[in-house]
Amino acid sequence: MISSTLTKALNQQIGHELSAHNHYLAIAVYFARRSLDGWAAFFYRQAEEERGHALKIVDFLLDHDVAPFIPAAKEARPNFADAIEAVASAVKAERTVTTQFEAMMAIAHQENDYRAVPLLHWFLNEQIEEEATMGKLHDLVRSGINLFQAQEYLPTPHAGGEEAGDGA
Ligand SMILES: [Fe+2]
Ligand SMILES: [Fe+2]
Repeated sequence: MISSTLTKALNQQIGHELSAHNHYLAIAVYFARRSLDGWAAFFYRQAEEERGHALKIVDFLLDHDVAPFIPAAKEARPNFADAIEAVASAVKAERTVTTQFEAMMAIAHQENDYRAVPLLHWFLNEQIEEEATMGKLHDLVRSGINLFQAQEYLPTPHAGGEEAGDGA
């Protein structure tokens, strides 16, 4: 059993991950509208990763005999002033998610929810990678490089989001 406090927080996090999915989809649309297809493809994949994160939590709750509800995801509009603003919004969002998982790790320790620690640890590691990736992209867009040329330097998304359901 997982404590009710942590169960509630994990359930809310499903909504945050689905909102992150929408946010990345909006960023992908922003780039797709400017024919920056490499950038768009990167953010479409990033959106899929976030959906994977939501499913990973759904699976974890199901394994612990909880039927999670699916929270509403936030609407996301592709109306960024420029590419720097779009990528900066991703950096900010990833930092927020990191604090959400840090708070859940604190709850897990407080409530002796040891079974949730590996899952939360996996997500915290994932956040280190995602913050680093978005930080690098932010530097790239701020460098003033032509965004079409910059597509050569886009990082390959890591496999984090594809592991949904592996019960890590
Ligand atoms: Fe995520
Ligand atoms: Fe993320």
